[in-house]
Amino acid sequence: MDKKTYIILPIIAVGFLAIFIISTIAKGGTIIGSRHDLIGFNKRAFGTPDTGPMTGASFNDYRQTCIYCHTPHNANNAAPLWNRQLPEQSGYQMYTSPNFDSKPGPAPDGISLACLSCHDGSVAVDSIRVTPKDFVDAGTHYRMSEEGSVGSDSCGKCHNRRAGAYGGIANAHDATIRYLSKDLRDDHPISMKLPTFDMDPQFNQPAIMKDDGGRMFPNGVQTFEGDKVQCASCHDPHNPDERNVEGRDPFLRTSNRGSALCLTCHAK
Ligand code: HEC
Ligand code: HEC
Ligand code: HEC
Ligand code: HEC
Ligand code: HEC
Repeated sequence: MDKKTYIILPIIAVGFLAIFIISTIAKGGTIIGSRHDLIGFNKRAFGTPDTGPMTGASFNDYRQTCIYCHTPHNANNAAPLWNRQLPEQSGYQMYTSPNFDSKPGPAPDGISLACLSCHDGSVAVDSIRVTPKDFVDAGTHYRMSEEGSVGSDSCGKCHNRRAGAYGGIANAHDATIRYLSKDLRDDHPISMKLPTFDMDPQFNQPAIMKDDGGRMFPNGVQTFEGDKVQCASCHDPHNPDERNVEGRDPFLRTSNRGSALCLTCHAK
């Protein structure tokens, strides 16, 4: 290498690195390319060519990000223009506590049920009401469940704690903590009304009215359908921006640094 190449090579390398970093940052704030974008998992996980085990192999590739959750027509009302088959509202075990001021319902409802249509593993990730006109049926329709819990068609076949679960190419990450199952006794209570001030003075009351009559805290934390705490009170399914300490992106409505999210509702 002559002296010029010596200088130029690192400059090119730094340039590429900058482009790479900028393009990764540019994805922030959008669902595109996040874990909620079910398009192109294989490409993202393995690079090209797209020969991986996911989109188009273990579930249908509809080639549209939004369609796995929304449809412009023929929707149900679990969440805005909701396109997904919903789980049966039976068989759930809800979080309960003697300390409760308000009472949880017998089963998740509304937006929580919409989230659970993927996250409890009872419905396949590609089970939607309205499909695009043309797509190739993958023939397999995997669910976000641990292997063996609800049949064998589960993402947990690969995404579990055993290293090397997927033949040699790469180890699939352990996603079992994201497979909530129908046993919600180990999850923050959902589908229950917020306590009123009289019931619990240590519970902050959301004040700001939204157009639909729901209430919202100034930091964007919402309540849903009749002032209930739901999965989407704490999570914004479109926004992977807020990283936690491990660098994962739990789609939070607002940062939980210093437990800010928790302190929105709980005056502790
Ligand atoms: C993984 C499921 C999922 C996907 C994929 C998804 N959404 Fe949503 N979307 C939801 C849920 C749940 C709600 C209701 C909760 C909320 O308002 O944040 C919602 C609400 C909305 C709303 C109304 C409330 C608001 O935030 O303005 C719009 C508009 C919307 N989504 C657009 C989109 C578009 C456009 C796409 C594709 C680029 C998309 N969504 C993909 C789950 C999804
Ligand atoms: C179309 C299916 C689908 C729906 C509907 C859905 N999710 Fe997800 N979600 C996923 C997938 C796939 C992942 C990634 C799992 C993995 O890591 O293997 C995920 C991951 C997550 C994560 C973890 C992100 C991380 O990096 O730690 C959170 C939090 C989450 N979802 C919350 C929600 C909430 C709240 C709702 C409802 C508002 C919802 N999801 C609806 C498919 C879905
Ligand atoms: C045959 C094994 C296998 C199956 C089945 C499988 N995956 Fe994966 N998945 C992998 C491997 C290997 C990777 C790449 C390593 C990693 O990121 O964990 C991966 C990566 C991912 C990623 C990260 C993608 C990215 O953007 O980097 C998500 C999300 C994911 N899988 C979700 C799922 C979901 C949801 C299902 C079920 C519908 C599923 N996987 C089924 C093997 C599998
Ligand atoms: C009271 C607030 C709150 C509610 C309600 C809530 N979550 Fe979460 N959730 C969080 C926080 C905070 C995290 C991030 C934890 C961390 O940083 O590891 C999280 C993490 C997650 C994860 C990722 C777990 C991991 O470690 O990768 C998933 C998946 C998830 N939530 C889904 C849901 C679903 C589905 C519901 C409704 C059934 C729900 N959440 C209800 C606050 C909430
Ligand atoms: C959107 C509002 C909201 C947010 C944000 C929120 N919670 Fe809650 N939380 C509730 C409601 C409602 C209850 C039930 C309260 C009652 O009736 O006593 C509750 C109950 C609890 C309980 C008591 C359970 C019991 O056994 O009595 C704990 C502990 C708790 N939350 C922890 C947290 C933590 C930790 C966070 C942050 C990750 C958080 N909460 C964020 C609304 C919220």
